[in-house]
Amino acid sequence: MSLPNTETIECDLLIIGGGMSGCGAAFESKYWSGDMNVVMVEKAVIERSGATGEGLSAINCYMGQRYGWNTPEDFVKYVVNDMMGLAREDLVYDVGRHVDSSVHLLEEWGLPIWKKDNGDYERIGRWQIPIHGESIKPITAEPARKAIGQENIYERVNITHLLTDANDPQRIAGAIGFGVRENKFYVFKAKAVLITCGGASNVFRPRSINEGMGRTWYSVFATGAAYGLMIPIGTEMTQMEHRFVPTRFKDGYGPVGMWFQYFGAKITNSKGEDYTVTREAELHKYKPYGLVVPTPTPLRNHQMFLDIKDGLGPMYMGTDKAMQKIAGGDPKKMRKVQEEAWEDFLDMTISQALTWASQDIRPELTPSEVVLAEPYIMGSHSGESGAWVSGPEDLAPSDYFWGYNKMTTIKGLFAAGDGVGAAPHKFSSGSFTEGRLAAKAAVNFLNDNPEDSTLNDGQVASLRDKIWAPLERFEKHKGASTAEEVNPHYLTPYQGLVRLQKIMDEYAGGTSAWYTTNKPTLERGIQLIELLREDLNKLAARDRHELMRCWEVVHRTWVGESHMRHLLHREETRWPGYYYRSDFPDLDDSKWRVFVNSRFDSESNEWELFTKPYINLIE
Ligand code: FAD
Ligand code: ADX
Repeated sequence: MSLPNTETIECDLLIIGGGMSGCGAAFESKYWSGDMNVVMVEKAVIERSGATGEGLSAINCYMGQRYGWNTPEDFVKYVVNDMMGLAREDLVYDVGRHVDSSVHLLEEWGLPIWKKDNGDYERIGRWQIPIHGESIKPITAEPARKAIGQENIYERVNITHLLTDANDPQRIAGAIGFGVRENKFYVFKAKAVLITCGGASNVFRPRSINEGMGRTWYSVFATGAAYGLMIPIGTEMTQMEHRFVPTRFKDGYGPVGMWFQYFGAKITNSKGEDYTVTREAELHKYKPYGLVVPTPTPLRNHQMFLDIKDGLGPMYMGTDKAMQKIAGGDPKKMRKVQEEAWEDFLDMTISQALTWASQDIRPELTPSEVVLAEPYIMGSHSGESGAWVSGPEDLAPSDYFWGYNKMTTIKGLFAAGDGVGAAPHKFSSGSFTEGRLAAKAAVNFLNDNPEDSTLNDGQVASLRDKIWAPLERFEKHKGASTAEEVNPHYLTPYQGLVRLQKIMDEYAGGTSAWYTTNKPTLERGIQLIELLREDLNKLAARDRHELMRCWEVVHRTWVGESHMRHLLHREETRWPGYYYRSDFPDLDDSKWRVFVNSRFDSESNEWELFTKPYINLIE
């Protein structure tokens, strides 16, 4: 089986991923880049790709500065507290001070935002505004496409590896991948690269397994590529031990934010108790964070978790009581609240509306079960994993600054959205904003560093062999057994994925382990994931779709290993409700109010873990 042809594309700036942050980057780059050549590569099609492809029901990051609602300073305080004391204030502030203008742009481009009678935006919570958001992604994609031009957008191309410079392995030189619908390699030679390829679902065994496995909360297409591309080339990562465990409507994974904040619903256990009341004392153990309003997301989980652990489930969201209270017996009002309830899910998580329909649930009459879902590794929502990046020059202290806003520790490699660590609560609008900021900084970098990068031909040739090997392995060995899925010479990407998920679930504090782990368990898990990483060299693919699946499981495995190594390093339980270290059950500000960072060295196959200071900037 011969290797397919290679198309080489040369550009100044390469944007990998056309999601929220990628589209923001493409749009913004046009403004600053003059005659520079900006190229975007996306594994799907940008009108429906990424975590917002299915639509959204709210903009979850909006300051409302023109209404006097919040300042960026308020936002920083909220985010740091929600992260139990740990977030990069320079990066969070940077998003906060620019995000409103991004939201106004989205509205200008056609995003319908709910309005009050006086024309002001409607509000859900302190930072959240409701939208008719089914089409947020095509609305975001259109200006991105127009900005850099159709001819500069490569879709259905899956990027598998980053390329480093032949003369300097600490400098970026491009990326390599393959066409998922055509037999072709793509080599992108670039002077700067911006990683915007999303977070990671399906690293942990999800609650929905087997035929339900296509259903998770975060997008199943969020395959950890941002981390899986950056870690192998030695990019410094931060807070990879962090995770987001979302409270979700059971089985459909419907989000709860709108229900808590807009409809004012409450969750009660089987005895009718509200854990936010009965478990109030628990918050005092986590002073000062636990006593701030709103209660940090992990601690809200923690309170519910204690009920579940005590056998007080099932837990029910009282949609019925909330809707009846709003309607107050008025059928017209009830009709409106019914529409809003169904739209919340039809706009964003259609599977939840289907779950209601298939279980004969009328939310105004019947409460709905909620659960704590499996963990997700991400940097844009209530999770803060990602690359350790330079902060903005006017805000970042010297420990957090090395030249260009959002540049990673690899020269010329930038990140945004889920790819940036220690800067959470960006959501859709903040990710879009961060993409814009990163693109602007990348253009600055290109102005200062106009010299060409140099591809390492040996590196490219060996990667081409490696990328294609699963297809060749299948062809070579496919006759060795009657069932293609059972073969002594290879494992399928699905088998690799379930093996990863089993390790993560059992050793790294997944749902079956009640989110709990300890040093010996993590050490054993790391041994097992190292073996898995070796065995992934024996992946086989029947077609290019499976070839993409192979590289997705490789990326997810990097995420899993990095997560476990970070969990092991942080000897405390900083985020109860997200995970518990049974050997270090308490939060320890005296030692651990620091960021945990790591670097992988591909030469020695070793990881280095260390800490970086948390610096308070906003009083
Ligand atoms: P994404 O938007 O996911 O973009 C990543 C892109 O990279 C995708 O286009 C993907 O196809 C591409 N890609 C991945 N791997 C590769 C590869 N190897 N090669 C090439 N391309 C690749 N936010 C809100 O503000 N309000 C909400 O109501 C809200 N609700 C949500 C509900 C759900 C169900 C989900 C899943 C998310 C929700 N969010 C919400 C969060 C929001 O969607 C994310 O924060 C945001 O999309 C993150 O942006 P990003 O650019 O980092 O990643
Ligand atoms: S979504 O992004 O998938 O819709 P989710 O519904 O959990 O996620 O959260 C939406 C927004 O509401 C987020 O900004 C989240 O932090 C916030 N939120 C969710 N529940 C609560 C709560 N009980 N109190 C305060 N804020 C909340």
